[in-house]
This record gives sequence, C-alpha cells and structure tokens, in this order.
Amino acid sequence: SIPVLPLQPDGTIPQLGLGTWKSDPGVVYEAVREAIRIGYRHLDCAYAYDNEAEIGQALADAIAAGEVTRSELFITSKLWNAYHHPESVGPILAESLKRLQLDYLDLYLMHWPIAFEKGVGFPKAGEEFVSLEALPLIDTWRAMEACVDAGQAWHIGVSNFSVKKIKSLLAEARITPCNNQVEMHPYLQQEALVAFCHQAGIQVTAYSPLGSADRPEFLKSQNEPALLSHPEILAIAEAHSASPAQVVLAWNLARGVVVIPKSANPQRLAENFAAAKLTLSGEEMATLAKLDKHFRFIDGHFWEMAGSPYTRENLWDE
Ligand code: A2P
Repeated sequence: SIPVLPLQPDGTIPQLGLGTWKSDPGVVYEAVREAIRIGYRHLDCAYAYDNEAEIGQALADAIAAGEVTRSELFITSKLWNAYHHPESVGPILAESLKRLQLDYLDLYLMHWPIAFEKGVGFPKAGEEFVSLEALPLIDTWRAMEACVDAGQAWHIGVSNFSVKKIKSLLAEARITPCNNQVEMHPYLQQEALVAFCHQAGIQVTAYSPLGSADRPEFLKSQNEPALLSHPEILAIAEAHSASPAQVVLAWNLARGVVVIPKSANPQRLAENFAAAKLTLSGEEMATLAKLDKHFRFIDGHFWEMAGSPYTRENLWDE
C-alpha cells in the first residue's frame, strides 16, 4: 500500500494520489472509479478544473458500492484566484463540497498567490487582476483558517508559493500551512524549496510529476528530450524492468515528496500506483539529481499582460 506522511497539525497524507487537472468531463468519472479499484485513496481536485461534479459522482458511487469509505479517502480541492476576497472563501469552498458531494475536505489549498476580481474565470485584460497590496494573501488565508474552524476543511495549505511567500505567511498565520503544491520533476527539482518546507514541517506535493507528458512542444522548442524519453531515465527504468514514469515518481517519493500523477488510462493508473514499490539506488538518485534544468512547464506567463500586477519574477520571487 501507499506510505503516508504526517500532515500538521495532527493528520496524514497518502504520498501518492491521483491528479485530475486536464481530466476531461466524460472521462474523469471512469478514471476515478478505476483508480479507487486499483487502491488510490488520495485525489487532487480543484474548483478551476471544472470537473468536480463528475468526480463527486464517482466518489458517491464508489462509496455506495462499498468499495471505499469517506474516512479512507483523502480529498484535496483548491481555492480559485477569483475568490480570494475573504467573504468569497467560505461560499466557494461550500460550492466545491457540493459538487464533490462531500461534507468536508481533507485539504484545501490556495491555488495561486494571485488574485482576480470577483467572478473572473481566466483574465483577458490586466484590469481583471487584483494586486496583493490591495488584497493581501494573509487576508485570504485568515478566511481559509475560518473554514477549518467551521469544519469545511480539515487542513489548509498553499500552491505555487515561493519560500519568500511562505515565510511571510508563516509570520502572520494562526494555522500553519501544512502543504505547498508546486510543479516538481527531475527537470525542476527545487531542492531549496523542498528543504525549507520540510524543515518547517510543510509537506511538498509535486504537480506535473511526469514532466507534463502531454506538453512536449515546450521542450522541443529547446531541443531537449521529453522527460520520459531522457536516455538516463530510460536506462534506469530498464535496469528495474520499470517504466520511465515509475522512475521519476519513485525519485520524488524517495525525496519525501507527495506525487499526484494524472492519468485517465487504466493501464497507466496501475503503472503509476505501482511506482510506490520501486526503490532506486543512491547512485541512480545521484544520476537523476544531475538532470535539473530549472525548467517550468507551468511558468506563469499567462498571468503577465499589460496592466497586470503579476510577473514571472514577482510570482516565483526569483
Ligand atoms: P493519460 O491520461 O492518457 O495517461 P502530469 O501529471 O505530469 O501532468 O502528466 C500527465 C500526462 O501524462 C497525461 O497526458 C497522461 O496521459 C500522461 N501519463 C500519465 N501516466 C503516464 C505514464 N505512466 N506514462 C506515460 N504517460 C503518462
């Protein structure tokens, strides 16, 4: 079975879960049902993925079929950028719960350290953003703390936060963020961020842990092999009779990082789940450590536009 890691203040998080971003309506229902049959208990969702209702139906049906109980599941959702206004946070979390057919979340994350005007889906003009000076992250965080008090979420955390932004939140928060979910794979290893978070008792979750296998065009433009076709990763996979996906997942698991690979394919769901059984040697870990390219697939360029207060520099603080 899948190992669990401690989650502040008094919980645990399964170290491998199912990602649901880009899982299309009409497909994600069966993916979730199959994942639960395979043994997945941790599901990573978000309001913005626009598929929570279908996931909720799959969870309700799996529970009704006796395949799993609510308490065995670990369900995450995320607060979208258009709901950072403190009075919006509780109601939009309630909407995610309704769609997911749940009465609490195990974990609620602030999706981005970025705020929009109320109700904006994806901004097309700079005026649709709200700056962090006008709507500070701590104000949104306090409203998330109130969701814990209300029993809507058992744990709260952040996503796409730099060390600098976590530090400033830590200085003012009543409830410590227990998790930071960021892009992480051998091309974007973020050793300093992982070390800081772990030392602060914050679990790190890797999104796009397979190097966003569905977005190869980003690397082609740089003449780099797609992560899952990198020769060194292929060689390690072959040595273990494993797949390249299993190698990169096992690498993050060995670093104490939570992984949430997305798949809608039964074979790949099973393959990814089995990565928890793969142990890499110290030498293989060292080989993988050398592949870092500081390469972001999700670099935040889509928040940069005329009139937007957000840039890649002030988003990642680097
Ligand atoms: P599919 O859903 O058809 O399996 P990431 O989580 O890094 O964003 O990667 C998700 C992408 O990787 C999806 O396109 C998914 O496609 C694909 N994928 C998932 N599991 C594997 C695997 N074991 N091997 C290769 N590709 C995979």
